[in-house]
Amino acid sequence: MSTLTLTINKQDYQLDNLDSRTTLLDVCRQHLQITGPKKGCDHGQCGACTILINGERVNSCLTLAVMHDGDEITTIEGIGLPESLSELQQAFKDHDAFQCGYCTPGQICSATALIEEVKQNWPSHVTIDLQNPDGLLVQEIAERMSGNICRCSAYPNIIKAISQVLERQIADKSTTSVSNSVQGSEVTGIWSPPPSEAQLGNKSSNNKTANSTSGGRS
Ligand code: FES
Ligand code: FES
Repeated sequence: MSTLTLTINKQDYQLDNLDSRTTLLDVCRQHLQITGPKKGCDHGQCGACTILINGERVNSCLTLAVMHDGDEITTIEGIGLPESLSELQQAFKDHDAFQCGYCTPGQICSATALIEEVKQNWPSHVTIDLQNPDGLLVQEIAERMSGNICRCSAYPNIIKAISQVLERQIADKSTTSVSNSVQGSEVTGIWSPPPSEAQLGNKSSNNKTANSTSGGRS
């Protein structure tokens, strides 16, 4: 048993006699009634519990609350509320990027951090140098969101929503090379993204569209 203070969504919470084995997810949901983070698998495979800790995305089911005394913790409630949606939340709404909505808090938390990672030119498996992208941004987003599973398979619209915000924010940052790649990308139907033109060795976008509308996660 231990006592700690957690800062969640800019509010301090003191927890007395907390079992040190309690995950941050369970503290949020069961002790503090912060129910935005969802429990899907409870062992790091679905991303439904994704929150931000000091601006970086973390599966809250995999980390113990006692490890985060003094950290800045943000759940979906801290990103925006119904009367004051964040730009990304509004984009999810505009693009109908959910069905049941269970994965959505985790998707939006994860995408919020994704946008910052891209703006800071963090390399990924898809694009080593984001200042000089060599793949479609659809692939970049798909790779970086691969830890967030959507059972309803809303992936195409999730990518559209993230693309819209990323495009605008990158444009604001005046890194035109990346924003151009957003404009050239097309979200057509599946989460696992279509291969790039370079990988296909094929300039025809029609073929890509035809091959990508079947839906489902491969
Ligand atoms: S509930 Fe944490 S990753 Fe699934
Ligand atoms: S919207 Fe239902 S699980 Fe993603």
